[in-house]
Amino acid sequence: MKILGGGSLQLGYAFLILLHMQSSIGISSTTAGDEVRCIESERQALLAFKQGLVDEYGRLSSWGSEEEIKDCCKWKGVQCSNKTGHIIVLNLTVQQYGIDRHDLRGNLSPSLFELQHLTYVGLAGNDFNSSCIPESIGLLNKIQHLDLNDCNLSRSLPSQLANLTSLQYLDLGFNYFNNVKNLEWLSYLSSLKHIDLSANDIGKVNNWPQLINKLPHLTYLSLEGCNLQDAIPQSIPMINTSTFLTDLDLSGNNLTASIFHWLFKFGKSLVNLYLDDNQFHGLIPENLGHMTHLKTLYLSYNQFEGGIPKSFGNLCKLKFLDLDDNYLDGMLPEIIGNLSGCLQLSLERLHLSENKIKGPLPEMIKNFLSLQSLELFNNQLNGTVPKSIGLLSNLEGIYIFNNSLNGTISESHFSALSKLRELDMSSNSLSINFSHDWIPPFQLDYIKLRSCKLGPKFPSWLKSQRKFSFLDISGSGILDSIPEWFWNLSSRALDVNLSSNHIYGILPDLSTKFSHSLRPGIDLSKNKLEGPLPVFPVNVTSINLSENRFSGLISSLCTITGGILQLLDVSHNQLSGEFPDCITQWPRLVILNLANNNLSGKIPSSIGSLYNLESLSLQNNNFSGEIPWSLGNCSALHFLDLNYNSFSGKIPTWIGERLSSLIFLLLGSNNFSGDIPLKLCWLKNIMLLDLSNNDLSGNIPSCIQNLTTLAQKESSAINYLIAASYVDDNSGYSAYYVDKASIMWKRMNRDYENGNLKNLKIIDLSSNKLTGKIPVQISVLLELVQLNLSRNQLTGWIPPNIGQMRQLESLDLSWNQLSGQLPWSMSQLYFLGTLNLSYNNFSGRIPTGTQIQTFDASSFIGNPALCGLPLTPTCPDDEKSEGKPKNRDIAEFWKWFKPEMELGAAIGFVGVLAVKLDHPWKHLCSLLFNKVKVRLSNLKDCLYLLVAAVGLLVREYVSRLGRKLK
Ligand SMILES: *[C@@H]1O[C@H](CO)[C@@H](O)[C@H](O)[C@H]1NC(C)=O
Ligand SMILES: *[C@@H]1O[C@H](CO)[C@@H](O)[C@H](O)[C@H]1NC(C)=O
Ligand SMILES: *[C@@H]1O[C@H](CO)[C@@H](O)[C@H](O)[C@H]1NC(C)=O
Ligand SMILES: *[C@@H]1O[C@H](CO)[C@@H](O)[C@H](O)[C@H]1NC(C)=O
Repeated sequence: MKILGGGSLQLGYAFLILLHMQSSIGISSTTAGDEVRCIESERQALLAFKQGLVDEYGRLSSWGSEEEIKDCCKWKGVQCSNKTGHIIVLNLTVQQYGIDRHDLRGNLSPSLFELQHLTYVGLAGNDFNSSCIPESIGLLNKIQHLDLNDCNLSRSLPSQLANLTSLQYLDLGFNYFNNVKNLEWLSYLSSLKHIDLSANDIGKVNNWPQLINKLPHLTYLSLEGCNLQDAIPQSIPMINTSTFLTDLDLSGNNLTASIFHWLFKFGKSLVNLYLDDNQFHGLIPENLGHMTHLKTLYLSYNQFEGGIPKSFGNLCKLKFLDLDDNYLDGMLPEIIGNLSGCLQLSLERLHLSENKIKGPLPEMIKNFLSLQSLELFNNQLNGTVPKSIGLLSNLEGIYIFNNSLNGTISESHFSALSKLRELDMSSNSLSINFSHDWIPPFQLDYIKLRSCKLGPKFPSWLKSQRKFSFLDISGSGILDSIPEWFWNLSSRALDVNLSSNHIYGILPDLSTKFSHSLRPGIDLSKNKLEGPLPVFPVNVTSINLSENRFSGLISSLCTITGGILQLLDVSHNQLSGEFPDCITQWPRLVILNLANNNLSGKIPSSIGSLYNLESLSLQNNNFSGEIPWSLGNCSALHFLDLNYNSFSGKIPTWIGERLSSLIFLLLGSNNFSGDIPLKLCWLKNIMLLDLSNNDLSGNIPSCIQNLTTLAQKESSAINYLIAASYVDDNSGYSAYYVDKASIMWKRMNRDYENGNLKNLKIIDLSSNKLTGKIPVQISVLLELVQLNLSRNQLTGWIPPNIGQMRQLESLDLSWNQLSGQLPWSMSQLYFLGTLNLSYNNFSGRIPTGTQIQTFDASSFIGNPALCGLPLTPTCPDDEKSEGKPKNRDIAEFWKWFKPEMELGAAIGFVGVLAVKLDHPWKHLCSLLFNKVKVRLSNLKDCLYLLVAAVGLLVREYVSRLGRKLK
């Protein structure tokens, strides 16, 4: 000790002398610590590292060769050893993630790893442009801490990592390494305490559990989203295995129950365990309940069934149990019962939503005294909510929406809930009945009581809630006016939804309300509000006033100048005036719905400034003039509804080019004239095309077959809409206008369920002056559900292949001049529910088939030459032709048969022949008619057909052979 002490004293003296010398010689630097000058070769290595980088934010501005900044030990992020002068720390971690992170970009230069004395390297959050980790990393044999999280590195991990034997902390997460074949190097790093390899694909490394077992000091392991598959051998040697592992994150993989065998070995130490988003199914293992140190247990997004094991009640330290989104189908009282050990004192967050849990919320819940968050939404709970829930004085959030709970919620349900901030009881059958003068103990931020019964009086207890951001009391049976105090509460509100009530009265000036809200949204739709539109705050972001009785001029909306309006729906009111001429103030508008009012005038050309517009509905007003060219700038439009107005002029050809995202185009019941432009066929995403009730002439373009969404089962348009409605979760805008589309199209209430929008695949060209033939190409639109070409001047035949449009539910060709026989293939339209062929010049026999004869005669009347059921019991030539080959039938058969005849089909046909050759002809024929539904009654017909089919086959074969030989 003494000698050592003396030594350091001596050093101290030397240091002083040195200092003295420096100042006496006149070296400029003065501050203490200047004696450590960085080592030149290390300085060069850092400069080479800097050279490879783009430093957009000047983070390395202190790194340079100029005299005054030459000392690299003073560079930002660099620390040198005060003994040796070597650089020991390089920390350029980006603190802020997300959009405004100030990262360095460029190559991860191998020169960095010449700094062999480094003990700490933090480069997380910088962007190394998909470079590899250089093999020279193996030189850093003193390094203890290596953080390369989210560095945009790529490909594989170098085996030289095995040389970093001092490493304690290793974070290579979120680099999306996708070619990791082995992790053998891990087993050499026996000092490791912390490993994060999240979001790298190590699915090919089957022995990762064995390698982890060789790390005796490990406390933290994250392999989240590593594409881990199950390949865990039953027995894994666990000699040096860590007894300190506290944090284990295996979420977002493909693991199944076989991992538990390995996992349970850490049962004595684990504190935080994340197993969410895997492939676990079956019962929750009992042993999880024996990990008595657990504080956090995530099991959500799996397929666990049944209930919760009783052992869980013994998890005396557990604070957070997350079982959301599984297939649990137990009874809630039993589940709560099983949790009622010492756990009930520790548990703070119980998340069981999105399961199939049944039964009532039990009285016992009152024993969970630490409970802060209770999430039970989207289950099958029924029965009443016990009053004892009101004793859980730590509760901050109750989420029990989307169940079948019933009964009355009273003040006592909340008696001690002074910390409650979020309450969502929507979509149950609950009545909420508080006494008039009750003052709740809580100040809610989030109030969601959609479709709970709150009315008929406007709920007065809300008066006390002065801080809410979200309020949804839609559909709650309120039959009252909105009290004045209400609008004064909303100063912070982001979303106020009072829709679907019976609220009446006149709205006050709202411009000064919402004063502390950044982007208020107001939904008062489906009420009985009247009077002029109120003055809104300038920064309002969504307004829905549809289905009320507002009147007066729409231009009063022009006081909204904040520029962040995204949704404006004032449809189904009695508003008048012209199209608001202030739309340039609303550049972010996504949805504009002015339908069903008394508006008139032209669409102003300024509409072209709405680049974000996705949905424009002007249906059922009195707008006139032409569609302005500038509307073509709104290239994001998916939904354009101008039905029931007085628009005129030609349908612009540019619609097909410039509005190519359109999914719904409704121009019906206007005064459009001229041809249907060919470029309309460019609308690949179109699902609903309504040009009915106009003055259109010319032919139906044969390019109609290019409307590919109508031809394909998987529609990208539908996928877009569904995806968008998930992505845009906050606003639900996309879902919103699909909803509107389905309801508003001709005011028919067409239902669509999640993703089932197929009913909206419609073409309606009825009531125009279209001439010419129905293009045969129309029958390529295999997914079309409704086709209405009625009341035109169409001539010619029905396309013979119409039968392949199997999804058709409604077909109306009435009031045209169509002629010829009805194609036999029509009898294959099995879904047809509406058929109207009346008032044409069809002739011959109505095809027989399961479906056709179910329509009554009105579907066919006005075609004097048409015969057969349901029009007439027989056809004129029925008696004459008894017993003779029905040449007409044969001809019809060929019409049907030829276009459909593919070589493959022909081979199949002959295959049938070959198998059945030894059977009587008759049998084969009956087989045939069943297939083609041709009514043949005798052997001759049958033979004729078979010979013809073989003939066709031979012809086809020969011609193909010929082509091949050429
Ligand atoms: C030198 O480094 C050691 C440990 O790294 C530290 O405790 C000490 O305070 C440092 N001395 C000076 C003068 O910075
Ligand atoms: C490295 O930098 C990050 C971000 O500035 C900081 O949080 C961390 O503590 C630093 N590490 C060291 C050892 O200085
Ligand atoms: C890694 O260590 C091995 C054995 O100690 C040695 O042969 C090799 O050169 C080292 N590799 C690097 C890159 O330092
Ligand atoms: C995960 O497992 C599921 C079902 O077993 C399988 O469909 C899927 O392809 C797997 N994912 C990966 C990335 O292997």
